[in-house]
Amino acid sequence: MSHNGLGVVTREQVLAALEPVKEPATGQGLIELKLVPSVEVVGNSANLTIELLSPINSTKAAIERDVRIALADLPGGIQPTITWKTRVRASGGGRSDAQPIKGVKNTIAVASGKGGVGKSTVAVNLAIALAQAGAKVGLLDADVYGPSIPLMMGRSERPLMRDNKIVPLEAYGVKIMSIGFILDPNKALIWRGPLVAQLINQFLNDVHWDDLDYLVLDLPPGTGDVQLTLVQKIPIAGAVIVTTPQQVALADAVKGLKMFQEVKTPILGIVENMSGFICPHCGESHPIFGEGGGKQTADEYEVELLAQIPIEPGIREGGDSGQPIAAIAPESATGMAFAHLAERVANQLAVQAMVKPRKPTIMLRTV
Ligand SMILES: Nc1ncnc2c1ncn2[C@@H]1O[C@H](COP(=O)(O)OP(=O)(O)OP(=O)(O)O)[C@@H](O)[C@H]1O
Ligand SMILES: [Mg+2]
Repeated sequence: MSHNGLGVVTREQVLAALEPVKEPATGQGLIELKLVPSVEVVGNSANLTIELLSPINSTKAAIERDVRIALADLPGGIQPTITWKTRVRASGGGRSDAQPIKGVKNTIAVASGKGGVGKSTVAVNLAIALAQAGAKVGLLDADVYGPSIPLMMGRSERPLMRDNKIVPLEAYGVKIMSIGFILDPNKALIWRGPLVAQLINQFLNDVHWDDLDYLVLDLPPGTGDVQLTLVQKIPIAGAVIVTTPQQVALADAVKGLKMFQEVKTPILGIVENMSGFICPHCGESHPIFGEGGGKQTADEYEVELLAQIPIEPGIREGGDSGQPIAAIAPESATGMAFAHLAERVANQLAVQAMVKPRKPTIMLRTV
């Protein structure tokens, strides 16, 4: 029974008031996206459950603010009690005939046509930043020729087996797997095509990844066997292309970008790494490798410039000592740059998962 005149509000009124509130990443309505699975009105208060599409604090804060404003406008001014749930959705991407990895919702490839630009650094810090936001994250070292994840994550033990599958190691809240845990990482590893495919296949399917929101793949440089195997075997939700600002690196980054575009893997965007050196004395940024290249390339190929990470001694030190900057200094400017990158990646994948491409309208032709 409702008694509107007395300032008691109905469930329908609460739902109607929530109708215009948007989920910020997708720009679509919370109600329309079915992100409010439970609404309970008790007297002059309401208990709501709201589902988030990614574990991103700024998204949550924006939704909370808008929900409170919308409900304060109702007669009597409803003060909601909100229970938050995060449910990251799978966002296919890539070849539709590829088999997803069981339990893994989104696979993110960190790639570049060029060596030494910071792919592994970005992969490691992105994975940690996603985990710190509260997501379930894995990191697969797909660089079978020169694995760097053991050193960068500070782990090197041989993983255990359970039910004939490898149990990944864990560091900084991230499940990790690398060929470097099994073979001596200092030995040159020469793998031929079919063996690479077999090994990658094993890493994808014979590892207990269990439930993951995001599996980050650290790729070797170039567009070789590993990349080909991956894009054929699994639906990659999106690729993050890493480059440094100078022209030669950009040209190679574009090659990597085009390879993914050809196989219809969504490009999440470009990370410009070593984007200027911040002088520790004067605090000014010096563009050692040039300026604006990442932005220009992103514009040219109509993809997002996801982040600009400066040259910072702490990044190299952290990488060499198994203490990545996103883990040990999340509040530093660079730590925050990686948190911001994680946010943009998670948001883009949420949009991809929720906003289905519109069906083409059938045009009626008058004869
Ligand atoms: N922004 C940065 N500031 C300082 N050092 C950095 C930065 N990014 C990466 N490095 C350092 O540069 C080196 C190369 O980085 P990284 O191994 O991540 O590159 P990569 O693209 O994965 O290389 P490869 O092609 O060999 O796999 C590492 O020693 C790393 O610590
Ligand atoms: Mg690397």
